[in-house]
This record gives sequence, structure tokens and C-alpha cells, in this order.
Amino acid sequence: MIDISNISKTFNLGTVNENTAIRDISLNVRKGDFITIVGSNGAGKTTLLNLITGSILPSTGTIKILGKDVTRSPEYKRAAYIGRIFQNPTLGTSGKLSLEDNMNICSKKGFKGLKISLNAKQRDLFKKELVALEMGLEDRLKDNVGLLSGGQRQALTLLMTVLSRPALLLLDEHTAALDPRNAEIVLGLTQRFIDDYKLTSMMITHNMKHAIEFGNRLLMMDRGEIILDVSGDEKRTLTVEKLVNKFHEIRQTEYVTDEALLTL
Ligand SMILES: Nc1ncnc2c1ncn2[C@@H]1O[C@H](COP(=O)(O)OP(=O)(O)OP(=O)(O)O)[C@@H](O)[C@H]1O
Ligand SMILES: [Mg+2]
Repeated sequence: MIDISNISKTFNLGTVNENTAIRDISLNVRKGDFITIVGSNGAGKTTLLNLITGSILPSTGTIKILGKDVTRSPEYKRAAYIGRIFQNPTLGTSGKLSLEDNMNICSKKGFKGLKISLNAKQRDLFKKELVALEMGLEDRLKDNVGLLSGGQRQALTLLMTVLSRPALLLLDEHTAALDPRNAEIVLGLTQRFIDDYKLTSMMITHNMKHAIEFGNRLLMMDRGEIILDVSGDEKRTLTVEKLVNKFHEIRQTEYVTDEALLTL
């Protein structure tokens, strides 16, 4: 579904600020994969998603989506396949517009410039979709989205994103700004939508428990590399302790290697 071959990304090449954020990553995302991604700040997680969406282009390597080489295609051309949700709940919707207007605009994606007014049938449809969130939002169609809580707003963003049935759903710490209860609710919805619509998805999280509990495959990134790729039984029997130990094992090996190199 997504074939990433040997991509690297160096920012500010040739300057004092040169920074290689992604180092020779190859990754095959299979249809139906729900991949969780962990890794410390600056590990390159967001950059990897940016490379997939095309919001930045790789320095080297190739990216194929659904068999098509999109390595150099602009972001807007890939947007049809990809739904993306960010950490900040205000990013996915317009706070100054009502719920129904937000949903209307989202459902008219691709018909830019056409102002198509809402009819009763569409309103009914939106209501039905909002019922699925179990947050009572179906009774607030005319409220401005800015009045919603962070959790409600992120749930609405999630709903609007999955309505277009993206081939790939990218979640970048999409529950990190929510309180624990709302984070659980939005994660539960995420899981339900992924199951119901059989979405392929990648979810970045700093919560190791969530990374283990959700998805069929877990990637750990560090310093621009994927240092761990776990699925199947190994993923199912993973614990936070095992994951932390694995990280230390891998990094220990590297430090030893580094030291060995220093003595050359
Ligand atoms: N547009 C950019 N220009 C220059 N450097 C960048 C740019 N985007 C990311 N970087 C750098 O690339 C590295 C990886 O950043 P990235 O945002 O991918 O990390 P991350 O794993 O998502 O971290 P976090 O958990 O903090 O979100 C960092 O050193 C960052 O400063
Ligand atoms: Mg990030």
C-alpha cells in the first residue's frame, strides 16, 4: 500500500544548521495495517509522516502509494488518499463556523468554489454521523465549533476525516492535548472507525501503553531511524517494560560500536 525505499531527509543542507532527520528508512505499510509509532522528541516521527503526505520532499529515496511513485508529487495531489490529524484540536476544523457548515465543507472537498447550501436530507445525514460519536453533538449542528471542548472537537475532526474514507489515516499525537478521559474516548473512536472502515493507519504517540494496546504493528524511531518494527505475536505479548528494555538493548549495542570506532 505504501512502499518507502531508502528515504533520507536532511534539513538545511550545507549550512551550520544541517540536520539529518530521517536516515535511510525503508518501510512497507500493508493494506489494513494499524501502525503505532513511538520515539523520543526529535526522533523523526512527524518528518516521516510529512514525507508521506508530501508536505516535505525527501533528499534521497522513493515513496510509492498504491503502486504509484509519488516521491516528487506535491501534497495536494496526494491529499485525496490521505487523512491527517494533528495534536492541536483547533487545526482540523474552523472554530468560526458551525458544525454543519464544517461538515458540509468537508463533504464538498474537491468542489472548490461551489457554494452548495445544506438541505434537510444532508442535515439528517450529518446528524446520523454525529450520533456515532456518542457526545450529543447531533443536537448542536448550529453551534460554532469553537464552542466545543478539545475532546469533542478532536472527535469531530476524526469523524470528518474518516468520512472521506482515506486510503491512509495519519494520526500525529492526536490525543496528546486531551485529558486522559477524553484521550481514551477519542482513541476508542479511532479504533472503531479503523475497524468499521478497514482503514490503513499510522498513529504517533508518546504513550507506550497506547502504542502497545492499539494496532497490529509497532515502530520505534530514534535519531531518524526505525530501530524496532514489531508485529504479530511479538507485538501482542509486548509490555512497556519489554519495550523499554529493547530500546536500551539496541542503543547499548550502538554505543559499544561507537566506542569501538573511537578506538580505531
Ligand atoms: N522544517 C524543518 N526544518 C528544519 N528542521 C526540521 C524541520 N522539521 C523537522 N526538523 C528537525 O528534524 C528533527 C526531527 O523532527 P520531528 O518533528 O520529525 O521529530 P518528532 O519525532 O516528531 O518529535 P516530537 O516527538 O517532538 O514531535 C528535529 O531535529 C527537528 O528539529
Ligand atoms: Mg512530532
